[in-house]
Amino acid sequence: MQVRRCAVVFVEPRERLDFDLGRLVEGGTGVESVREWIALTAHLDEEQVLDADEVHALGQLSPDAWIDWGELNSRQPGASLESLLAKGILISDAAEHADMRDQDDNVRASHWKGISAVAQRHTRWRAIDTLEAERRFGRETDRPFLERLGTPEAPVRERVPSEQRIGLAKPSDTELEALIRQRVTCRNWDTSKPMSAEDFASIMFRTFGARAVSDEPGITVMKRAVPSAGGLHPTEAYLLVQNVEGVKSGLYHYHPIDHALEPLGDVPENESAELALRIVAGQRHFMKAHVLIVLASRFRRTFWKYRNHAKAYRAVILDAGHLSQTLYLAAAERGLAAFITAAVNERDIEEIFGLDPMLEGVLAVSGFGWRGDLVDEVEFDPLGSVWPRAADTRA
Ligand SMILES: Cc1cc2nc3c(=O)[nH]c(=O)nc-3n(C[C@H](O)[C@H](O)[C@H](O)COP(=O)(O)O)c2cc1C
Repeated sequence: MQVRRCAVVFVEPRERLDFDLGRLVEGGTGVESVREWIALTAHLDEEQVLDADEVHALGQLSPDAWIDWGELNSRQPGASLESLLAKGILISDAAEHADMRDQDDNVRASHWKGISAVAQRHTRWRAIDTLEAERRFGRETDRPFLERLGTPEAPVRERVPSEQRIGLAKPSDTELEALIRQRVTCRNWDTSKPMSAEDFASIMFRTFGARAVSDEPGITVMKRAVPSAGGLHPTEAYLLVQNVEGVKSGLYHYHPIDHALEPLGDVPENESAELALRIVAGQRHFMKAHVLIVLASRFRRTFWKYRNHAKAYRAVILDAGHLSQTLYLAAAERGLAAFITAAVNERDIEEIFGLDPMLEGVLAVSGFGWRGDLVDEVEFDPLGSVWPRAADTRA
């Protein structure tokens, strides 16, 4: 058997507080601070606790050169190599370790910058219910929001006294200005009114569709509504369609060149809301949107050019932001409304759509639909652009 260490691993010295009833009975607080080494890899979801011998052994291993297991053990005797292998930090070419090796190969094949890969892997959620967590936190602390957090930073950083500021002319009202004013994150949906197939197709095309395809030798690139690092457009749109005329409720992938849906599985209407809730981490105010869109970055597409690049991960995240804003405006243009959230259960979404987190990672979830007539959930519309009676308030 040959081995090498995984492609990316960062070791963090971490402190945590441990509670022990025995210590409390003995007269102390019962709380003890524990310091330990935590290994964060790019190919494993779980963090691994290491002891000092394992940390030392890890420092001796190459991420690239394979070495014979017997030879390595004669050079570095001890139990650490066995435990690193069992934890999946040491990768082997043996058939029984093929799963681990495949996951590590996915990281290698994508040209990730190590620190970005670890951030992507270890910021994903599974089965989180954010509203429930917020309620619990509120109950536990039992103090008003401002008291808990203190006041936020001022909305503007002022660098010079006001008399030194050079005032700029306000633009005249144009169609674009009117459209921008209509852009209010929607949390109240009208489920009684299906979205027309025409609205759906229009908004999808305006946001995600390819206007043109250019073929340089060996490199096909799309022209889209939004800019994209290197013109590579790594962001894929995966859809949960819930309420669109002529489109069966279910999972789809959008094909931006053909401007077409690729069906990935039906979802019975009575199961759709629950699935949506799982996707948006328990945020009930987004669950009923007519269409939910998972923005998933096909990292290899951008990292092909920006290999092991310090800025590449930031660039693909920015890509999702551009698409989201375009979606908001495309929906507003047709009298519909949109949302975006980063509080999503990435690991559940990967399962639902069959995505590998290091090859096609979930960055955010957007959605759009008809806004309802009643404000059950807070929307930020101080201009009264969509809720006339709510002008000058937050809801
Ligand atoms: C990256 C990002 C993440 C967001 N996440 C959430 C979220 O988890 N839940 C939510 O209700 N709104 C979320 N929003 C929407 C913001 O709350 C909203 O933009 C803000 O309150 C201002 O309102 P407006 O968009 O109507 O101007 C998010 C917005 C952005 C850009």
